[in-house]
Amino acid sequence: METSNVMKPNQHYNLNSTPQLAAIQKSFSYIQKAVEEHRTKFNSQDVFFIVDYGCAQGANSFVAIQVIIQALAQKYGLTIENQISVIYNDLPQNDWSALFQVVSQSSVTSLASGKSFYQQILPSNTVQFGYTSTAIHWVPKKPCNLEQHCFALGGKSTAEELKMWSTQAAEDYRVFLQHRSTELKEGAVLVSVTLSRNSSNDTGNLPIYHNLYRSAITVLDQDELLNYNILVYYRSLEEQTDPTLLKELSFELICADLHLLPHPIYEEYHSKNIDFEEFIEKYTQCIRSWSESSLLRCLRKDRTEEEQLKINEEFWNEFRNGIRLQGAEPFKHNPYRSYIVLRKL
Ligand SMILES: C[S@@+](CC[C@H](N)C(=O)[O-])C[C@H]1O[C@@H](n2cnc3c(N)ncnc32)[C@H](O)[C@@H]1O
Repeated sequence: METSNVMKPNQHYNLNSTPQLAAIQKSFSYIQKAVEEHRTKFNSQDVFFIVDYGCAQGANSFVAIQVIIQALAQKYGLTIENQISVIYNDLPQNDWSALFQVVSQSSVTSLASGKSFYQQILPSNTVQFGYTSTAIHWVPKKPCNLEQHCFALGGKSTAEELKMWSTQAAEDYRVFLQHRSTELKEGAVLVSVTLSRNSSNDTGNLPIYHNLYRSAITVLDQDELLNYNILVYYRSLEEQTDPTLLKELSFELICADLHLLPHPIYEEYHSKNIDFEEFIEKYTQCIRSWSESSLLRCLRKDRTEEEQLKINEEFWNEFRNGIRLQGAEPFKHNPYRSYIVLRKL
């Protein structure tokens, strides 16, 4: 099921993910804070594991990792770099070749882990610094089909559907944190940047999902449309920082904020660096990069490769048409994101 959650390969994601990069840039001060609050005991012989959970093809992840390493070097001295080993984690189907083209430039050891972050990745009590950005809103399985939309929070879910998705997402979050709690050393830290919804249940980016669903209605048959559900759920900040949950899993909350960032492609358009057609193309490629696998997964298995290619292209032309009709304004926000720093007790 999770194969539908991977990014479009062959550097496509690396080249079309500036909104996710902007979210990482916003996390720099949280990384700094996490390094200040890092309190483990270690000596000069110990390997210092940093893990990025959901690294994709590495271009953005590498930026975050470099900032983490610099902040650690400031606190612990430059020799820490000889001890650091970075684990880039993502699903087995991730484009690992694209990742290594980027991270092989690093001065520290870079290793890969192709395993779901809803499982334990490293041995217990080994991780010094955990990081994740724009990844854990992807849920590992679908609790039920959504009858009227591709997004559980798209405003069309029945109360029963919503209940099933929210319960599943809460359980998944617990499982994610439980494994991190096991892996992290006492006093180690976790920085989590996650797509979230605000107190009015707004995700900040609903027009994207409406446009995806409208495009799906145009090109898919009825069964495919029913299966066209994107396996994401945006949890609230409160859900992610529930004191009972954190205490139970031995985490101390260092800080937690919610931010609605501007969308870099909209900013380029707004400042007249690109025209409307360029905006449409760049924006479409950006959405295609993270959501195309969800479309391909729902296509009937008896469709020929040629048919699948045709549907895929028609879908994205419809998506472009949707933006053309609505204008750039509805697409001006990067979604709400939570920025959370936790320390393992
Ligand atoms: C939108 S990308 C974010 C990549 C990078 N962190 C960034 O900010 O640009 C989300 C990544 O999470 C990965 N992912 C989704 N579910 C996952 C899971 N259960 N375990 C590990 N990685 C997962 C996807 O494969 C994808 O590469």
